[in-house]
Amino acid sequence: MRRGLIDPFGRRIDYVRLSVTDRCDLRCFYCMPPDFHDFEAPDHWLDLDEIERVIRAFSELGVGRVRLTGGEPLTRRGVPELAARLAALPGVEDLSLSTNAIQLERHAAALHRAGVSRLNVSLDSLDPQRFKAITGGPLEKVLRGLSAASQAGFSPIKINMVVMRGVNDDEVEAMVDFCIAHGFTLRFIETMPMGETGREASEHFLDLREVKARLAQRYRLLPGVMPGGGPARYVRVAGTELRIGFITPISQHFCASCNRVRLAVDGTLHLCLGQEHSTELRPLLRAGISDAALKEAIQQAIALKPEKHEFREQPGQVVRFMSMTGG
Ligand code: 5AD
Ligand code: SF4
Repeated sequence: MRRGLIDPFGRRIDYVRLSVTDRCDLRCFYCMPPDFHDFEAPDHWLDLDEIERVIRAFSELGVGRVRLTGGEPLTRRGVPELAARLAALPGVEDLSLSTNAIQLERHAAALHRAGVSRLNVSLDSLDPQRFKAITGGPLEKVLRGLSAASQAGFSPIKINMVVMRGVNDDEVEAMVDFCIAHGFTLRFIETMPMGETGREASEHFLDLREVKARLAQRYRLLPGVMPGGGPARYVRVAGTELRIGFITPISQHFCASCNRVRLAVDGTLHLCLGQEHSTELRPLLRAGISDAALKEAIQQAIALKPEKHEFREQPGQVVRFMSMTGG
């Protein structure tokens, strides 16, 4: 038998996305409603000790990759400290962070010192007015955060752009040029119908195969690979260092190679981004569960992992917003 966490479909689970908060300092229209404040109560948040304990259990079950997400992870106090504690766990080989970069300028150096190696930054527009219309926040802070991250030595830095027809699809080439100029990796993402906001935004859904065809007219695209183990399919742009990844949950879903689960800030372990299957770990932790029983509970949860999302077949199915499980 293979070691580690294997789900009922034979997939090896070696990656945990850890949402350290469901709060965010932006309000991207496709993610969270503008007036949303039904956030998780602080006494329901796993504290840093509880988080470390759960991640240690996962790492002992063969999970070597952990990503800190949110909401916006940098809105929670103590994230660099948490990163250092997780990076020090013997089984954790790869610790990464997804951020909107609004507060990255302040934290970049500490995060890098703490052992975060790779960084994903959401960036949907390079036009300040448009960025403000999409997210409600100032582009200039994100750009300052990105330079701080480059200076701090993060490599690679990946830019994630949700491409939406009639919203920002005219900026695809500008984003390619921006990433070439700064040495970033670029990933395009299809809009997902998560929560009410995501469903509304799906009116702007754009099949990324169209974007790829359009780019192929302007750049010479070569087959590419990128270490990381995620679902993006990469190309390289000839004559440059740029790699472009296409994340196509809707047009070409990649559930057969899914390797991940998601831990929400309240200790809910979500088995799939696009389904409601979950297990509550907080009550177990707070009832004083042993390490062995915690690992047992995780193994039982993995047995509930569904085969695939049904974003296309049942777009109304997922009621939680993306900010609750961190993408
Ligand atoms: N569809 C696709 N991506 C989304 N994100 C948030 N909501 C959606 C959605 N409905 C992405 C953000 C960011 C990460 C937090 O998740 O752009 O990259
Ligand atoms: Fe915040 Fe990310 Fe959601 Fe935008 S997409 S509101 S940055 S959690």
